[in-house]
Parts: sequence; structure tokens; C-alpha cells
Amino acid sequence: MSKKDPGTFRQILGHYPTGVCAITGTQPDGKAAVMIVGSFTSVSLDPPLVAFFPDKGSSSWPKVEACESFCVNVLADHQESLCRILASKDPNKFEGVPHRLSTRGAPILDGALAWIDCSLHAVHEAGDHYIAIGQVHDLDIHHLGSPLLFHKGAYGKIQPPLEIK
Ligand SMILES: Cc1cc2nc3c(=O)[nH]c(=O)nc-3n(C[C@H](O)[C@H](O)[C@H](O)COP(=O)(O)O)c2cc1C
Repeated sequence: MSKKDPGTFRQILGHYPTGVCAITGTQPDGKAAVMIVGSFTSVSLDPPLVAFFPDKGSSSWPKVEACESFCVNVLADHQESLCRILASKDPNKFEGVPHRLSTRGAPILDGALAWIDCSLHAVHEAGDHYIAIGQVHDLDIHHLGSPLLFHKGAYGKIQPPLEIK
């Protein structure tokens, strides 16, 4: 099995667990854009920068990019079914999703644990993905709770710690 084989790459890298975020924005025509990512990460404190890695083949990324501002919504462990809908290619996937708008106009999803409102700072090429960097303008905790996780190709939750007697 070659280590460059995409299946092997995915399988081995899938051992690294991630949280799951919905990147949201409002396009110039007023329609919402949304994309689910597991690649969200913080980058810099001064200035405050965050990043995620859109696939060059994504049809949602050009819509998010056109928004120029975006909001990172950290999904809670009870939002798996919403996540599955938002990760689909359904053009109406955002219809009826409860939210309010950030001061920069990006949707903040009801039930998300935290939100980070950004302007698009830079986009770099990296193989078959982009590195999208956001400058953080505002952020807050939305709800207390536990995050939705993704690990070895499946959704998961943080297990409560075992009681040690
Ligand atoms: C848990 C999870 C994490 C994902 N992470 C990313 C990611 O980091 N970057 C990306 O481009 N797509 C990611 N995707 C795929 C997109 O959410 C979406 O399903 C894919 O881009 C196909 O739809 P599109 O063509 O509308 O973009 C992820 C999907 C899931 C379910």
C-alpha cells in the first residue's frame, strides 16, 4: 500500500480527530452560503487570524469566497443531523435553518457553541486545496455544551470522563 495512495492518506490522517464547523456568509445577492469543514484552526493571536482549507473542487467555497466576510460556527454534539444537511450539495440546504446575522452580515446558527466573525484576509493555493485565512473581527460563546467531533470517518461526541474510585 503506497503512502501516497489517497485512500491510505485519508485513512491514516482520519486518526486525527477534529471538531466540525459551519462556515457561513451572505453573498452579494443576499443568499446565504454555507460550507462544513473539519479543517478549521486558529493561526495567529496578533493580529487575530484563523484558517480553514477548502477543496478546490468544492462548489460551496466560491460562494463563501464571494461573501468576503464569513462566520465560523463551532457545531455542538447535538447538531449532527444539521451538519449532514449543510454538508450536502442541496442548493436549498440552508432553507429554514434558524439563525441570526452577525454585525458583518454572516449567519450565526442557533445552537452553535461559539462563533467567530471574520473578513477574508488571504487565500493561498496548497495542492488540491486552498488555505483560506480570516481576520477575526468579533467572536463569542453562543451556548455552553460539548462539540461535535469527526474521527476515522464518523461523527462522535466527547465521552464523560470515567469516574476513578
Ligand atoms: C465532517 C466534515 C468535514 C469536512 N471538512 C471539509 C474541509 O475541511 N474542506 C472542504 O473543502 N470540505 C470539507 N468537507 C466537505 C464539505 O462540507 C462538502 O460536503 C463538500 O465540499 C461537497 O459539497 P460542495 O461541492 O457544495 O462544497 C467536510 C465534510 C464533512 C462532513
